[in-house]
Amino acid sequence: MITVGQSPQTMLWAESYRPQTLDDVIGQDHIIRRLKFMVQQLHESGGDGGFPHLMFAGNAGTGKTSAAMALMRSAFGDDWQANFMELNASDERSIQVIRTKVKDFARRGVIGQYLVNGQTRQIPFNVIFLDECDNLTPDAQASLRRIMELHSKTTRFILSCNYPHKLIDPVKDRCAFSDTRFRPIAKEAVSEALTAVAEREGLDIHPEAIERIGEVARGSMRKALNILFATTRVPMTATVDDVDEVVAELSPQARTRLLQTAFKAAGESDPAKYRELARRMDKQVESLAEAGFSGSDILDSVFRACADDSKMPVGIQRTIFSSIGDALHHASISQDDILTVKAWLRRLKV
Ligand SMILES: Nc1ncnc2c1ncn2[C@@H]1O[C@H](COP(=O)(O)OP(=O)(O)O)[C@@H](O)[C@H]1O
Ligand SMILES: [Mg+2]
Repeated sequence: MITVGQSPQTMLWAESYRPQTLDDVIGQDHIIRRLKFMVQQLHESGGDGGFPHLMFAGNAGTGKTSAAMALMRSAFGDDWQANFMELNASDERSIQVIRTKVKDFARRGVIGQYLVNGQTRQIPFNVIFLDECDNLTPDAQASLRRIMELHSKTTRFILSCNYPHKLIDPVKDRCAFSDTRFRPIAKEAVSEALTAVAEREGLDIHPEAIERIGEVARGSMRKALNILFATTRVPMTATVDDVDEVVAELSPQARTRLLQTAFKAAGESDPAKYRELARRMDKQVESLAEAGFSGSDILDSVFRACADDSKMPVGIQRTIFSSIGDALHHASISQDDILTVKAWLRRLKV
């Protein structure tokens, strides 16, 4: 069950329905069970319980930040925020910020007390939750490693990332759970949690629509809650069609049109006709961008459609699959992901 933290009227549901306790975090039992045991050991030890640095790796919206906060609350009670700091490692410059904050934290020492089994205890360490640490360059990560070592007496890190392979081994090796992943949440579990939210909010929505959200959210509970909100902004009972209307999936028609133009252009030997087709292709991509699709959205959708399409000629499928992985990668790091899609379409060969 998910409990409500703050008034849902003033916050996004993805915030207001943040799990409060470790038990509220769904779909991650393989990690949560172990975190609970670590808290138990911490409480029994009376000291720091040998509490290690942690790494929470996995897709967005699967509960990494929530698990860190719930862990803190479960370890140190309602005043957990006194020795907790959340930082974002959005780029290599953030290492300076991290260093300064950790130093400040260390200079201040560990302050605060918590209550366990009726006893008041000294809080044993500060915790820094470092989000998106996969965005740090290897050099910045090397600095992070030194900071972790230097302050390990007073500070524990919880490193959160989407792409753990981007982290250098010396950082990973200093963290428990670095080989563990937060898993995409099973669609049944997502639907169940959404049903509870729908009940609480008094939403008028078909069960099939909730199931559909469970599918399109692809394992992200944050995404599921955002879709549930948008879907139910209608005066009548929300249906599967309402879900499809608000979800950024390309229509099958738009996709087919785009690929048809691309392959027609690929096979065109007349320069004037080729240029005309290529222009049309660019326009189609631009209109998708105007409708709010990112380059990755478009490529992702093309990939899925091709993979599921048993009628598409195998030759065309092979051509698409042979390069779409690279295109997805480039779109994710490019300044102009729409241009990446246009360029990819031009490279397709018949
Ligand atoms: N495993 C989960 N169980 C319950 N709710 C979740 C879970 N994962 C995400 N959520 C929902 O999505 C929101 C964002 O989750 P968050 O923990 O910030 O994800 P991450 O840090 O992995 O991107 C939470 O506030 C909560 O509403
Ligand atoms: Mg997060």
